[in-house]
Amino acid sequence: MLVLGIESTCDETACAIVRDGQDILANVVASQIDLHDEYGGVVPELACRRHIDLMIPVIEQAREQAKISLDDIDLIAVAHGPGLIGALLIGLNTAKALSFALQKPFIGVNHVEAHLYAALMSNPQTVEFPCLGVVLSGGHTALVLINQIGEYELIGQTVDDAVGEAFDKVAKMLDLPYPGGPQIEQLARLGNPQRHSFKAGQVKGHPLDFSFSGLKTAVLYTIRGPKGQGSDIVLTDADKTDIAASFQQAALEDIVKKTLSAANRHGIKTLLFGGGVTNNQHLRHLFQVAAPSFNYCWPSAGLSLDNAAMIAGLGYHRYRLQGKGDEMELEPLVRIPFHSKP
Ligand code: KG4
Ligand code: ZN
Repeated sequence: MLVLGIESTCDETACAIVRDGQDILANVVASQIDLHDEYGGVVPELACRRHIDLMIPVIEQAREQAKISLDDIDLIAVAHGPGLIGALLIGLNTAKALSFALQKPFIGVNHVEAHLYAALMSNPQTVEFPCLGVVLSGGHTALVLINQIGEYELIGQTVDDAVGEAFDKVAKMLDLPYPGGPQIEQLARLGNPQRHSFKAGQVKGHPLDFSFSGLKTAVLYTIRGPKGQGSDIVLTDADKTDIAASFQQAALEDIVKKTLSAANRHGIKTLLFGGGVTNNQHLRHLFQVAAPSFNYCWPSAGLSLDNAAMIAGLGYHRYRLQGKGDEMELEPLVRIPFHSKP
């Protein structure tokens, strides 16, 4: 079954063509980083306009790369949430229009669930269910028990910032370009992670939930003085690398600790990782050192950041589980609770 996937939840316009949920024939991603860099974060209105400009060329490029015609497509899969409402509308309406024109079914998938599917797609031989899904992206931080594709239980999530968002905001405080995660990782390599005793937050009564906003404020006060107001503090390069290293260590150690505690509590040894922050090599190192015997399934290059291959891949399974496509009434959803569907 040939599935055309569409992704436009945030600032990447992407189209992929995937056979039977696994075989990637094309995976085209048009990033908008240049557009949002000067604002230090994604500007929703600009993202929407760029999606409109890029959507058709990106689909055309994917079709050419896969050497197929649109008539060969059996199903159109689209991320219909969570994400920016205007951005979602463009992807979803494109999918509906294609479905109508080609007389082929379309199906909406959850972008966050697709991030976890990306790790499955990257490690088809080694994943054993039940496993623990760990979503670490710019918009989401979550721990999800996975019994099988389509059967999930959310057991931990952030109560404020997502971990990638915290990386991006700290990078902005240090005048680093957007997106800040890779920049912080690079600076942190040169810094002393013990210089500042930063700590990620703990959520009372919910030991598996995350909180990064206090950590972010602690970094701000270190950079700008006790009330965050001092603009005359001059940071040396060494100060910056130490702040980056200490922040990264605090955020990642918290993730490793809570993830392993969740896995042990549920007797799980296989971990499935999704989202851009999983590119961080220090994170991978910390997991390996803390629990070397676990089975770590990381998304491969091209599948960790936002992409449409994971959407097409998951769409194939969703369609088989559901037995039919979605109706034209399907709405974009800014938030989708992590539930089992159908
Ligand atoms: O999964 P993704 O493309 O976006 C969302 O769905 O939100 O992830 C983007 C996020 C950004 O916040 C970016 O700073 C972060 O992933 N990121 C990293 C690294 N590479 C990307 N964070 C830490 N270390 C990295 N190497
Ligand atoms: Zn994403």
